[in-house]
Amino acid sequence: MAERLFIFDTTLRDGEQVPGCQLNTIEKIQVAQALENLGVDVIEAGFPVSSPGDFNSVVEISKAVTWPVICALTRAVEKDIDVAVEALKFAKRKRIHTGIGTSPFHIKYKFNATEDEIRERAIACVKYAKKHVEDVEFYCEDAGRTDNIYLACIVEAVIKAGATIVNIPDTTGYCLPTEYGEKIKFLMENVNGIHNIILSTHCHNDLGMATANTVAGIINGARQVEVTINGIGERAGNTSLEEVAMILKSHKELSIDTNINTKHIYPVSRMVSSLMNMPVQPNKAIVGRNAFAHSSGIHQDGILKNRESYEIIDPKDVGIDENTIALTARSGRAALKHRLSLLGVELLQKKLDSVYEAFLKLADNKKDINDDDILMLAGKDRTESQRVRLEYLQVTSGVGIRPVASIGLNIAGEKFEAAASGNGPVDAAIKALKQIIRRPMVIQEFLIQAINKGSDDIGKVHMQVEHNGVNYYGFAANTDIIAASVEAYIDAINKFVK
Ligand code: KIV
Ligand code: ZN
Repeated sequence: MAERLFIFDTTLRDGEQVPGCQLNTIEKIQVAQALENLGVDVIEAGFPVSSPGDFNSVVEISKAVTWPVICALTRAVEKDIDVAVEALKFAKRKRIHTGIGTSPFHIKYKFNATEDEIRERAIACVKYAKKHVEDVEFYCEDAGRTDNIYLACIVEAVIKAGATIVNIPDTTGYCLPTEYGEKIKFLMENVNGIHNIILSTHCHNDLGMATANTVAGIINGARQVEVTINGIGERAGNTSLEEVAMILKSHKELSIDTNINTKHIYPVSRMVSSLMNMPVQPNKAIVGRNAFAHSSGIHQDGILKNRESYEIIDPKDVGIDENTIALTARSGRAALKHRLSLLGVELLQKKLDSVYEAFLKLADNKKDINDDDILMLAGKDRTESQRVRLEYLQVTSGVGIRPVASIGLNIAGEKFEAAASGNGPVDAAIKALKQIIRRPMVIQEFLIQAINKGSDDIGKVHMQVEHNGVNYYGFAANTDIIAASVEAYIDAINKFVK
């Protein structure tokens, strides 16, 4: 019988550490629910002590997700563990992931400590975490460059202290696959108690070997892998979830099963890429735009005669519909509905009608409508039930004139209008809006991003507005970035104007 491999997804922790890819809490919940649907066993939801935002995300993800274990990262520090325990209070199944650097680089330069002191700290943090939760995972940071005998001594000590999973990260992505595989084998053969716990891989891709190292770890006995969607992560990223899942599905002789429903892989990949504004490289294995595109005549001929001549994976197995047709202004509702459902979005007829109307308007302004655009349009429905809604916005701006904006708002059915000037069009529009909504509000963060490229593109705006000491997040997308900015502001204030 095939053995079970546990999939530990760290898209929302290690993946989210990529500069410029931060998600707000609502988006993190969306990703966490998609990961649950995909079938991951563990979701690493954040590093709660690192910021109030991370703390809050762990709390909200714990509430929103049912089946996967929710994991929170800590250093080998009691305060970190206390904060993580608090953040996990709503999780149905919870895990603390604590640890410390074990390589000579970390021991000498980061901690200025001795090997014995590091071992004592490792034991102490596992014992402390164990007082609060049953499921404790320990990471030996930079295990890739840690001497195997010392590593075995640490692993044995933390197992004795109560660790249920031990993570062997190749933090710098340095190991060769043979070297990493031998490390796991050495631990499997030389550590007392190793068969009572699960060894985990956690490989980085600095030399392009993350997936190869992870597979070497599995072959040698690791039964949990730490991965991210699209392989996102700091520097060159982490091991890709989709690559490991499809390697195991393709190589049945390894006799290892996961709980991943591979048909959800492509929709989740698109969702993460779109929300994090992180394009997937076209030749990326499994989920890249060209992964199944055959352009040479010889290949096309072979594929038409028998697809297995040139393809080892059926695109349908990862949720890619080959009949995907380009959406244009002439596409009907059914085509839009089909594409949304491929992207994991199911809409009721009424919502579909309004998204379709928005789609037609966008198609008039933008010739290639891609999956990111469609996801944005589907997300727009959130505004329907809002108390404060934008009725109209007119802005005059240019060179040599002071920008002026007039705005119409509908607040719970009542209409209000105002006009103001400002030092830019967004400033003018927000000043006009503030004449209607007279509350203390300060913009703390304002981020405008284009989804793809080109002057006809949709602008995505994330806004953080502070009101009475609390930050509220707003989001909007529009081909007009002034309108998107005002809509994002309104989205944020709807969270406190009740
Ligand atoms: O790469 C790494 O070592 C990590 C640990 C914190 C688990 O991400
Ligand atoms: Zn990492």
